[in-house]
Amino acid sequence: MFARVLAPLAVASSFFTCVVPTVSATPTSPFDLFSRTPAAGIDVKSLAPYLSATAKIYLPDTKEFATYTTRWSNLQAPTPSIVIAPGTEKDVQKIVKFANDRNIPFLTYNGHHGTLTTLGKMDYGIEIYLPQLNSISIAKDGKSATIGGGANVKNLTDTPWDAGKQTVTGCCECVSYLGPALGGGHGWFQGHYGLITDQFLSMNIVLANGDFRTIDSKSDLWWGMQGAGHNFGVVTSVTTKVYDIEHYDWAIETIVFSGDKIEQVYEAANKYILQGGKQSADIHDWTYWQNDARYDTEGPVIIIYIVQEGVTTVDAKYTAPFHDIGPLAATPQSGTYKDLAKWTGIALESPPCQDFGFNNPRFPIYIKSYNVTAQRKAWDLYSSAVAEADNPYYNSIFMFEDYASGAVRDRSSDASAFGFRDAHTLAAPLIIYNSTGQAQDEAVKELGTQLREIIREGTGSSELHTYVNYAYGDEGPGAWYGHEDWRQKKLKALKRKYDPKGKFSFYAPIA
Ligand SMILES: Cc1cc2nc3c(=O)[nH]c(=O)nc-3n(C[C@H](O)[C@H](O)[C@H](O)COP(=O)(O)OP(=O)(O)OC[C@H]3O[C@@H](n4cnc5c(N)ncnc54)[C@H](O)[C@@H]3O)c2cc1C
Ligand SMILES: *[C@@H]1O[C@H](CO)[C@@H](O)[C@H](O)[C@H]1NC(C)=O
Ligand SMILES: *[C@@H]1O[C@H](CO)[C@@H](O)[C@H](O)[C@H]1NC(C)=O
Ligand SMILES: *[C@@H]1O[C@H](CO)[C@@H](O)[C@H](O)[C@H]1NC(C)=O
Repeated sequence: MFARVLAPLAVASSFFTCVVPTVSATPTSPFDLFSRTPAAGIDVKSLAPYLSATAKIYLPDTKEFATYTTRWSNLQAPTPSIVIAPGTEKDVQKIVKFANDRNIPFLTYNGHHGTLTTLGKMDYGIEIYLPQLNSISIAKDGKSATIGGGANVKNLTDTPWDAGKQTVTGCCECVSYLGPALGGGHGWFQGHYGLITDQFLSMNIVLANGDFRTIDSKSDLWWGMQGAGHNFGVVTSVTTKVYDIEHYDWAIETIVFSGDKIEQVYEAANKYILQGGKQSADIHDWTYWQNDARYDTEGPVIIIYIVQEGVTTVDAKYTAPFHDIGPLAATPQSGTYKDLAKWTGIALESPPCQDFGFNNPRFPIYIKSYNVTAQRKAWDLYSSAVAEADNPYYNSIFMFEDYASGAVRDRSSDASAFGFRDAHTLAAPLIIYNSTGQAQDEAVKELGTQLREIIREGTGSSELHTYVNYAYGDEGPGAWYGHEDWRQKKLKALKRKYDPKGKFSFYAPIA
């Protein structure tokens, strides 16, 4: 059956690459998609001739289909029935129009690290697999770069840096550039320049109705794209500011503590790094609570990464207060910006860039400083829940990310759809486990929510502020985008105007 459908294609269109499936007997065929679609006679055959020479269509039962549908987290993952990898920006428009004409759902896949449980509602349809669109071209004046919608963080780290340029990107090399950016986007340069989205000058976007548009700050949609962008279209390319490299040197010190030091560690983080909101643009710290068999501790350890720009050794004014607490180990390293991902365990070859088939939900919350009492309470619950080598959650990480954030606050809170510019730290338990089923998933949700509630109580606010890109999926639009009435109204109005049928509502839907 596959052969009958596909052979004429492969022959008839030399400008179109089609991967003919090798096995055809299983019921998970594209006909599964077609039979659930109201209109008769739908198949990729009618789309193929309109796509560019480098576009690719992958049917189930191909190795590539399996590879390109695999996700970092399996919890309520989307399940597309067909993968189409556009070769050009205009291909994306063709795919969206094709899907719309036939009322077939579609979802953009880029770095495949999105985790919101809302994605699970995509239970059939077309995966638009973007990584072929990974071009990066730096403008002649050296002030901007145009970046393909499928470029990843590694691309954005290496290409500009090698040309003497830098810009704000996410930190994990295998995550896409745009996935983080459309929700605001955190990275090492945000203390200087603001969020990833704050760098954008214009973008090409395919809207829900299939229109292909170039938009910039003159469009009413621009505001929405800067924080709630996943809701409005497929971004096929973006032009962003880039800057001359200021400092070639970067340094890190990795310091490890046992859990009994929790109060001292977070008192020091508040005092010497966060500095009551005056954190310097060149200094960052992350703390990870995780089990580490190298240390003979009861339960997990606290690992702090202190990262500084423009030095070959992290300044003692930042590290000495931590040395004074009595760590288990302290390891300094120095190099360049390109080493940061390796140092912090998020390079292409690091575990977070492999797909183990685990469920990886996070329960994020933005905070302004550490409440040491709450940190202790959270530690006690977390360490008892993940300790012991045979624990199903043994690999989990409770993460606290203090990026420098001065320039994030330089832009006013109403200037974009990103609603949490006043945050200083992003906290999130990440419960990593090989799911045994729904009962365990529920137990994890309860644990993660409980941990987050402890941190929220410590803020003294009843409002939950999350980072949409780390969200679990059940927090809702107020917690994802900001609770203000005007903000929610504005988001809903844009959604009604640009995506009334909810084509882009699988990832943190506004409504
Ligand atoms: C290990 C790890 C490290 C991370 N590091 C950072 C970090 O440093 N900074 C940060 O801010 N966030 C970070 N994140 C969070 C990250 O922003 C989200 O996980 C994001 O969804 C990943 O995007 P993706 O393209 O990799 O995933 P995907 O699952 O492929 O994409 C997520 C969603 O984004 C949308 N999307 C992606 N590309 C486009 C596009 N071109 N046009 C329109 N919609 C699009 C789609 O709705 C898609 O469902 C990290 C996550 C992980 C797991
Ligand atoms: C982007 O990165 C991917 C894999 O990480 C690589 O295959 C591709 O060639 C890179 N593209 C550019 C333009 O650097
Ligand atoms: C997850 O559990 C399944 C079922 O017990 C097992 O087959 C699989 O190997 C496990 N995966 C990993 C990475 O441990
Ligand atoms: C810190 O957290 C504790 C425990 O939740 C709470 O009782 C206390 O009020 C918090 N302190 C501040 C300053 O908010």
